[in-house]
Amino acid sequence: MTTTDPTTAVTLDEETISAYRRDGVVRIRNIITADEAARFRDAATAATRVAEDNFTGSAIFNQYVNIWRQDDVLRELTLDSRLAAAATALAGVPLRLWHDQLLIKPPHNGAATEFHQDAPYWPHGGSRHSLSVWVALVDVPVERGCMTFIPGSHDHKDLRRQDLSDRDDLFRASPDLRWEERTTIPLRAGDCTFHNAYLAHSATPNLTDDPRIAHVAIYIDAEATYTGAAHVVTDGLGLTVGEPLEHELFPRV
Ligand code: SIN
Ligand code: NI
Repeated sequence: MTTTDPTTAVTLDEETISAYRRDGVVRIRNIITADEAARFRDAATAATRVAEDNFTGSAIFNQYVNIWRQDDVLRELTLDSRLAAAATALAGVPLRLWHDQLLIKPPHNGAATEFHQDAPYWPHGGSRHSLSVWVALVDVPVERGCMTFIPGSHDHKDLRRQDLSDRDDLFRASPDLRWEERTTIPLRAGDCTFHNAYLAHSATPNLTDDPRIAHVAIYIDAEATYTGAAHVVTDGLGLTVGEPLEHELFPRV
């Protein structure tokens, strides 16, 4: 069985790890407690009053990147050893943090996050495994902007970058994926999903009166190298192309 407890390391059983490796996604219930989720939700709500929205002008979500550098409470969540231990067990390679983000769909935002893979957006070479943990800080039923995945699609590693505001873009890049089954995973506050960075995923619009508040920590292979491609997190840091991302922004976990 899989156990989580705030005082102990999370332990994932072999069945969970093999389901993740097969499907590219797994749900872990109560990766943090409901009380912890409420505390981080309050911190997130306060932080977004002062942090810069990296996605202004889009109805899809408000995005607050590297919030762990700006807020001490949310830093605890981003660097939480339960998340990191589970991510490392799933990935099977040593990891470092790539970045975190709060992704908030305001009430009645009217826009889905359309199907895309994450990895094509990133300036990483030779990453043996990259993945995100998407933690629900509020209850996220299907109607509040929950995630949908195409299990197994993480074997598509050579696709171009896809536009997450365009409903058809992933399927233009890879027409076969249109005919694959989809899995929609509602989460209670404190639950999470881990998804492979090559797994195709989307999220429904928020049809409810309350914001959808998700905290995402993203991990990459600790040995992955910097390609030099433009990205808001790495631009201007002076990283060396072809070298691992050794920088205080990307701690090993
Ligand atoms: C979302 O939360 O709306 C999308 C998250 C993701 O693309 O990883
Ligand atoms: Ni994504």
